Amino acid sequence: MSTDIKHETWSSRWVFILAATGSAVGLGNIWRFPYVTGENGGGAFVLVYLLCVLLVGLPVMICEVMLGKHGRASPINAMKNLAIGAKLSEKWGLVGLLGIVAGFLILSFYSVIAGWSLAYTFYFVTGTMETIGPQSAEVFFNRLTESASAMLVWHSIFLVVTCYMVGRGLKRGLEMTVKSLMPILFLMLFGLVCYSAVVGNFGDALVYLFRPNFSALTGESILIALGQAFFSLSLGMGSLMIYGAYLPKQTPIIRTSAMIGIADTLVALSAGLAIFPIVFAYGLEAGQGPGLVFVTLTVAFGAMPFGQILGTLFFVLLSIAAWTSAISLLEPIVAWMLEGGRLTRVKATLIGGAGAWLLGVFSLLSFNIWGDITIFSKNFFEISEFLSTSIMLPLGGLLIVLFSGWRLKSDTALEWLGIEAKEWKLRAKVLILLVKVVAPLGVAAVLVNSSGLDRIGLKVFSLIF
Ligand code: PHE
Repeated sequence: MSTDIKHETWSSRWVFILAATGSAVGLGNIWRFPYVTGENGGGAFVLVYLLCVLLVGLPVMICEVMLGKHGRASPINAMKNLAIGAKLSEKWGLVGLLGIVAGFLILSFYSVIAGWSLAYTFYFVTGTMETIGPQSAEVFFNRLTESASAMLVWHSIFLVVTCYMVGRGLKRGLEMTVKSLMPILFLMLFGLVCYSAVVGNFGDALVYLFRPNFSALTGESILIALGQAFFSLSLGMGSLMIYGAYLPKQTPIIRTSAMIGIADTLVALSAGLAIFPIVFAYGLEAGQGPGLVFVTLTVAFGAMPFGQILGTLFFVLLSIAAWTSAISLLEPIVAWMLEGGRLTRVKATLIGGAGAWLLGVFSLLSFNIWGDITIFSKNFFEISEFLSTSIMLPLGGLLIVLFSGWRLKSDTALEWLGIEAKEWKLRAKVLILLVKVVAPLGVAAVLVNSSGLDRIGLKVFSLIF
């Protein structure tokens, strides 16, 4: 495969920060983080989550961006070139392949959930959701997921727009998208938090999110926090690697990664501060699971003054967040096809988009017609989600830190990061410790737990002894 093709670069480091933050901020922050926090008891979980971001997420992110910036190609070719350059096996390219497959799978079901968000935007705009009560909100959500045709429409719209954004190229597509949508996203979120602070039960939400209650914390929830940090920061699958490949040469990687990590975390916390005050003010249940946004919050919007406008704003916000992530899921595979030298960007985008669309159709059918078709009691949607987020992301992340920490020479890696041997002594040591030891152990723990290997291991153990 030829990798002679030269990719474009971002107009500036700030655009990269915006794009990478756009990738990180998505359904994971606004839909998943609040409900996972709710299910795991609030404050203590948030604290553990912050530690996971700092000790594991950031080191992985730094490595991933660094590899992209120096490989200057799609994850497959970047890893291959770097490995060859370091006199290692070209098989390291498989890490990139793993990432590309994961991104493709994630995009397929991500688009289905983002489609719900589009559907809800439409329902709010058209006034269907006015004065919706708890029971009807549940019925309403079920009616959407039981209708294959409705989901198909929204899933298709979401992907067509995603392809349009990616198909236009780096500057006219991805850059334009994040430059115009990210400021709107931040403004809307800020507005919603302010509104919640005034109208909702802000005090209770603050206590809930920030007062640690360690009795609610289990070993399992620590691993959930780590998995959530991984997904939320877009790690382990090459999105940040390909975005890093488009970086201008002089960008400081560590500081830039830290900004992305902080922005992503602030958005997740703000989403909690927008949602929980309303949930508490209306006496609703915080730990209700995936329906938190689509059912619980909708009930509150139905009951509150200006609920229709706020509901619309909220679901537009969620859809924008999903789009700026979806483009980063599609870009690695498109970049890789471009490097083959035979396809134009538009064709590569269409092929990638069509594949994700088809897999997405299988996923959406598993909410209704194909609901009973299961393997190991998981339907197609659950299998895609499990394989990509619980196995492939942590595995990709693990290989990325192992490559950077153990296969590359420390001096080379530090030089790539722009760290001068003298001036950074202590910080370099801390970073090396995190990349070589802490991050791999943390990610390996998630992998073992989420793949079920630990349970299998325990069974074998108990059979033998
Ligand atoms: N980080 C995105 C979110 O929080 C999801 C994502 C994962 C995007 C991996 C790109 C790569 O929703």
